[in-house]
Amino acid sequence: MKTYAIAAIPGDGIGSEVIAAGVEALTALARRQGGFQFRFDHFDWGGEYYKKHGRMMPENGRDLIRQHDAILFGSAGHPEIPDHITLWGLRLAICQPFDQYANVRPTRVLPGITSPLRHVNGDELDWVIVRENSEGEYAGVGGRVHQGSPLEAATDVSMFTRAGVERIMRFAFKLAQSRPRKKLTVVTKSNAQRHAMVMWDEIAVEIAAEFKDVTWDKMLVDAMTMRMVMKPETVDTVVATNLHADILSDLAAALAGSLGIAPTANLNPERTYPSMFEPIHGSAFDIMGKGIANPVGTFWSAVMMLEHRSSASPRTRNSTPRTSVAPRAPPTSPRRWSTRSRGRTGRAFSAPPLPLPAGLLRHMFQA
Ligand code: IPM
Ligand code: MG
Repeated sequence: MKTYAIAAIPGDGIGSEVIAAGVEALTALARRQGGFQFRFDHFDWGGEYYKKHGRMMPENGRDLIRQHDAILFGSAGHPEIPDHITLWGLRLAICQPFDQYANVRPTRVLPGITSPLRHVNGDELDWVIVRENSEGEYAGVGGRVHQGSPLEAATDVSMFTRAGVERIMRFAFKLAQSRPRKKLTVVTKSNAQRHAMVMWDEIAVEIAAEFKDVTWDKMLVDAMTMRMVMKPETVDTVVATNLHADILSDLAAALAGSLGIAPTANLNPERTYPSMFEPIHGSAFDIMGKGIANPVGTFWSAVMMLEHRSSASPRTRNSTPRTSVAPRAPPTSPRRWSTRSRGRTGRAFSAPPLPLPAGLLRHMFQA
């Protein structure tokens, strides 16, 4: 039987609850479908690990997950540890060296969830945000001098490379081309940021020439927030820098009714390294351990994981859960989820195609 090796990293806060639910769901799916199985290797990296070992993951951590078919990640963030340590010590320490440069964030209003936008009932809001995930404002370039003195200075330099911008533009145009409307909005801020963002715009024009059937436009990031609220139906696929897309994707999740359901894929499209899948909500320590964390963001991320394994190009539209999951478990009315951990260890590597996962959630919940 085909075996998919998944590195499960629950991380902090509600991460362990939602990942346990994800593992359970994926196990149920495989049992129901037949023909393949998952083997989950669990890694206890994160804030508690840091408190014991002084680092978020072991020094050879990446070597331990390098051969896995995919990584299922919960959340990094601990109230007793500064956020930049948890982020750079775990999530970015995986994303950047594994060159997961395409961060894909689909947004839809799931059945049973109400958008705060008065005119949106469902299909008017069907977006995919592509976030540059390897450089830009998250490049980590900068420094701090004269700490504590009145002369103190600090810089965070955003770094854009031609290769980095070309590959994310090409990825976004290709994704837009695969969706029914074949529409892309390139988000920028080239009025104020007159170097890197101007290069970003120029490269968009160059790459657009390779995708003649994609209609595209350019939008300043501030104006984009307004368009997402006022004219959501005019937006389809969006590409933006690391920071711009970080902000826009939270707005997108809120406009779709809940941050709790929003998924992410951190993709290494060339498949040189494993890709990583995670819900975009944080560690939510305030609801940790209560059994009310909503695992739908993790389920949807798991769908993206299956889709990445089963196809050469991302087809996020088909992976969107359009099933009865949401009405049965709306994030607005918390219910108790089964979060028994089914931790199993073992490893295997294989990459044959998986069955199309479009009906994943329906299968799981009718089981
Ligand atoms: C996200 C999150 C992270 C980010 C946080 C946890 C640092 O907000 O995935 O959008 O800014 O990238
Ligand atoms: Mg964010």
